[in-house]
Amino acid sequence: MSILKVEHLSKKIGKKEILKDVNFEVNEGEILAFIGPNGAGKTTTIKCILGLQKMNAGNVFINGYDIKKDFVKAISKVGAIVEAPDVYLYLTGYENLKMQASYYDDIKEEELTRVIKLVGLQNRIHDKVSKYSLGMRQRLGIAISLLNFPNLLILDEPTNGLDPEGIKEMRELLVNLAKNGVGILISSHNLSELESFCNKVCIIRAGEIIADEEINKIKNISENKYIIKVNKTNKIKDKDLKVIDDHYIEVIKDEEGIAKVIKELVNNNINIYEVKKETLSLEDAFINIAGGNKID
Ligand SMILES: Nc1ncnc2c1ncn2[C@@H]1O[C@H](COP(=O)(O)OP(=O)(O)O)[C@@H](O)[C@H]1O
Ligand SMILES: [Mg+2]
Repeated sequence: MSILKVEHLSKKIGKKEILKDVNFEVNEGEILAFIGPNGAGKTTTIKCILGLQKMNAGNVFINGYDIKKDFVKAISKVGAIVEAPDVYLYLTGYENLKMQASYYDDIKEEELTRVIKLVGLQNRIHDKVSKYSLGMRQRLGIAISLLNFPNLLILDEPTNGLDPEGIKEMRELLVNLAKNGVGILISSHNLSELESFCNKVCIIRAGEIIADEEINKIKNISENKYIIKVNKTNKIKDKDLKVIDDHYIEVIKDEEGIAKVIKELVNNNINIYEVKKETLSLEDAFINIAGGNKID
């Protein structure tokens, strides 16, 4: 079941196009990694989904409700943290939670206990947040966002600044929530942090989605990146070969593929000085199978 659907979302600020026809979907129990470098438009996309910014074109549906027509219904089962969790450092974790709970009707003590346990903060919930690690603050933020039993959780760069242990704890928490049917949209500028637990990846660059794939499609990829040193690159026309400069080309192929490329170069009277294999990053592999171009 589709929990979040973003269709043809476009956003301009002044004359600048921040988002250009962004499309993606999050289903029940699915974790979507929303990946892109700083300034790509991740936060803007998330703010548009949450109604914190107006979109210029497009539609967002949450649990089937159009946020433009049924905003209150659409947003009622969404938990979100945008940029940094909204917590007071001079209060304890529990006091923060209690205060946030007061914004909802009728949240019982056992619901507070439930979310505290879910994020694993039982032992530290009565400490001041100023004493928390960044990972604990993030988990408190998630606890707060889970108060209204959301079935869609949106987290904007929650792993920012977390150490590997913090990332591992977050992974366990999110996988557990997804198992219970929650759909999760999680953004990051680093795919390697999320690849181990996401089902789907969406890559955004300069406001455009350049790849959107199931992650298991790319997990067992047999392709590698090869750097080939040659005497000249000006005669190279093959669009699979990316010319880096006068002497180097880059190509992503499996073994049979690279053998063909070498033959073709030789047949075209190009001298090969060196073929170097580099491990393909998941991000490269991903963009390659999605047919997109990497834009740095
Ligand atoms: N209020 C604003 N006014 C002008 N430009 C903005 C504003 N907010 C964001 N931008 C621009 O929009 C682009 C996307 O920003 P953002 O969504 O924050 O990216 P990300 O979260 O992926 O780092 C950036 O180029 C940024 O400079
Ligand atoms: Mg951002």
